[in-house]
Amino acid sequence: MLFEDAITVSTIVAIDGPAASGKSTTAKLVAQRLRFMHLDTGAMYRAVTLVCLESQLAPQESPQLTQLLADLDIQFKTTGADQCTLVDGRDVTMEIRSAEVTRQVSAFSALPEIRERLLDMQRRIGAAHDVVCEGRDIGTRVFPDARFKFYLVADLEVRAQRRLDELQLAGQQPSLAAIVEELRERDREDSTREHSPLRKAEDAIIIDTTGLTIEEQVDLIAAHVETRLQQGD
Ligand code: DC
Repeated sequence: MLFEDAITVSTIVAIDGPAASGKSTTAKLVAQRLRFMHLDTGAMYRAVTLVCLESQLAPQESPQLTQLLADLDIQFKTTGADQCTLVDGRDVTMEIRSAEVTRQVSAFSALPEIRERLLDMQRRIGAAHDVVCEGRDIGTRVFPDARFKFYLVADLEVRAQRRLDELQLAGQQPSLAAIVEELRERDREDSTREHSPLRKAEDAIIIDTTGLTIEEQVDLIAAHVETRLQQGD
């Protein structure tokens, strides 16, 4: 066999956008429909943030942070339609969605050392699997050559209402005004940071989900990808 024959070229669907723009639910369902892996890079940044907070590290470079990143083991486990995030084998799926992690994650994800470590993990996963990968810098930095790129946007109030619905389902009772502020602040931090800020890739297709149902946005993306794959584009 020629060496080239052994190289697998996987298909990457990159989905970027601001907080609560519907990326996670959309990416998960698009991945199921295409039978691709769902790679939630936000969950990876949240997992590192959780471990740093547990180790009482501040969001700044330090020898302890370097050591923590060297030892870091993040895995995803899929059971049926659900995906769990594991850190060192521990299931942290619920903990990484806590208010404290959500408040701190933008500060930790601005650190270049953390970004480089996760970038490496994300590219390894993308080299081995067909993936629907969602985050902030997927189309610009992680997979700039991704075959498919989408950028999801939605009005701030609509995003806040969706996040409120999610949190209420999880038994929390925050105010809509507090969520609007939290999203505005996180968008500001994510889009103004120096390293890999939230930005639309030039060749990404914008999808405004303000007036769309989840089914509609999933169908738009999956149908686009399926058509191109069938045509062999
Ligand atoms: O998608 P999310 O809300 O779970 O992401 C949590 C945070 O992680 C987000 O505020 C910024 C950071 N993040 C990032 O910097 N780069 C990514 N590719 C994904 C997330």
